This record gives sequence, structure tokens and C-alpha cells, in this order.
Amino acid sequence: MAIIGCGTSLNAGETIASTFSRLGATPTSLVVASESQGTVLEDDTLVIAMSQSGETADVLRAIDDLNLRHGHLVAITNTAHSSLARRADVVLDRLAGEEIGVAATKTFTAQVVTGITFAISALHARGTVPRSIVLRLLNELYELPDHIEQAISAAESAVPSVLDSLSEHSGMLLLGRGTGVPYAREGALKIKELTYRWAEAFPAGGLKHGPLALIEKGTPVIVVDHSDPRLPRNIAEVQARGANVLRIGGAGSNIPAVADATLNNLGRQLWGPLEAAVPLQVISRLLARRLGTEVDRPRNLAKAVTVE
Ligand code: AGP
Repeated sequence: MAIIGCGTSLNAGETIASTFSRLGATPTSLVVASESQGTVLEDDTLVIAMSQSGETADVLRAIDDLNLRHGHLVAITNTAHSSLARRADVVLDRLAGEEIGVAATKTFTAQVVTGITFAISALHARGTVPRSIVLRLLNELYELPDHIEQAISAAESAVPSVLDSLSEHSGMLLLGRGTGVPYAREGALKIKELTYRWAEAFPAGGLKHGPLALIEKGTPVIVVDHSDPRLPRNIAEVQARGANVLRIGGAGSNIPAVADATLNNLGRQLWGPLEAAVPLQVISRLLARRLGTEVDRPRNLAKAVTVE
């Protein structure tokens, strides 16, 4: 299987790839659409193209370049009559409703949910995942709206008090581990788009391979903390160099927005802490407003990128 997309859609695709590989041991590759030249897929590869607009030129070109002999194309899009949808064998509509702001927000969460429900049902139909696990995962998905609502209110009350320290610095790092990494990447993308500040996401385990050199006294480091046992050591590494750490996690975090990990949430191990996406969106929006940048129409960017 291969999952293709750009920007936010690619970040969502990473959570879906993770679900296919962790739940079904399905070999899955993630293809950056703008860099797809030279990618070789085996015959019969199922390709999932992720695109909110369905008009992203890089995605359409990648599909043409990949020359899907015998393979099938599934489109996960928010625009069921788009150019992408017309090329696809199967269209999964995210049904997120029209999104006006250039930054993808509700369409990110909607495409993650659409993709993971597709993964669960496909793996069940193939006989890879038993019904008991499917029911457990569906129950967790039913709880998601509540978790997202709690995350919104936790973020709205906690973020204003950290805006001063975030705005004092020219940029920030975002860290995650395992299934938290795509959410760190998505947070960094949203912060860049809305605030025009640099924001770089790294897998926390990679700090010692280079990014640690960026840390100085006061550097803001936002951690997507979904209770991965390896994270405390990484947090200690950056704190020892003077970083100002902001944890988006469970109880006791700066932004207590991630549902309790002690509940042994299986989805957390497959697609990660989806609710953590919302505080990152709230940080981006409130920081942008503090800095006076344009939240809905960031400079230099278009909602649908129809040029390569
Ligand atoms: C997201 O906030 C960005 N505007 C951008 O990265 C976007 O996700 C990317 O251009 C892909 O767009 P698409 O989902 O319409 O294909």
C-alpha cells in the first residue's frame, strides 16, 4: 500500500499508514507527492491519495507518474467532484463541510477519522482483525468527539498564559515520539502558516542527532506527550539545555488535553493522540492573533495549490 499527499494531508496520511502497519502488519509507504518522481510501486499496490481540495497539482501529477498498472486508487477528499475524485476507483468523502481558512483544521481531523475507519474495516474484511478488536476501536472512535471537546476547552483556558513566552522567541521546536510524531509535524506546519514563525518538528529520539544544537535558554519546545515512556528522557535533555517545555498531554501537563493514557487506549498505539491536534491549532490561532498576522488568509499561500 502507498499513501500520497502534501502538507496537512500527508501528515494525516502518516497516521493512516501507521494504523495499517501497526494493526494489520501491512507494508505501507508514505509518498510525498511533490517528490514522487522515481518512486516505484509493485503491481497491485493499493494507493490512497489524500487531498482536502482534490485539486492539488502535485498529487494529481504523482498519480499520473506512478502509472498504477493493476493497482487501485482510493481518494480521501473533502471534495467528492474534484479532479482527484474523478481519477479514483473509490472515493471516501470526509464530509467535513466547506473549509474557508487556508489552514486545514477540521479537514485534518476528519481525514484522519475517515482513513482510520477505512483501515479498520478493510483489515477486518480481509480477516486480519477480529471483531472484538474492531468493536473496541469503534468504541474509542465514538469517544473521540468528547475528547476533542475537552481538548478545546483545556487549550482555550491554558494557551493564553503561555503566549508571552512563545511570542518572545523567533521560533520553536515540536517533539513527539512514535504515533505522536505526525501530530508534532502538523502542529509545526500550522504554527508556520499562521504565525510566520519558524517551527520545526522532530521525532524526539532524533534530538541527539542534530536538533539539540538549536536549544538555548528559553527556546520554546512543544511536546506532544501521549505518555510514551521514552519521552521524559527527551524532555529532560532539552530542559537541561534551558528549553522552555510546554507539554500537551494528560493530567499535570501545561495543556491537559490528551485523554488519560492509563485507560489503555488502543487507538493511541495505532493512530496516536488525535485530540492533541486541536490544542496545536489553538496555539497557532491565538499566537497569530497576538502577533497580528492574518489567520484566515496567510501571506503567500493558497487554499488549493493548483500549480506544481
Ligand atoms: C494545510 O494547512 C495547508 N494549507 C497545506 O499544507 C495543504 O494541506 C496542502 O497544500 C495539501 O492540500 P490538499 O489537502 O488540498 O491536497
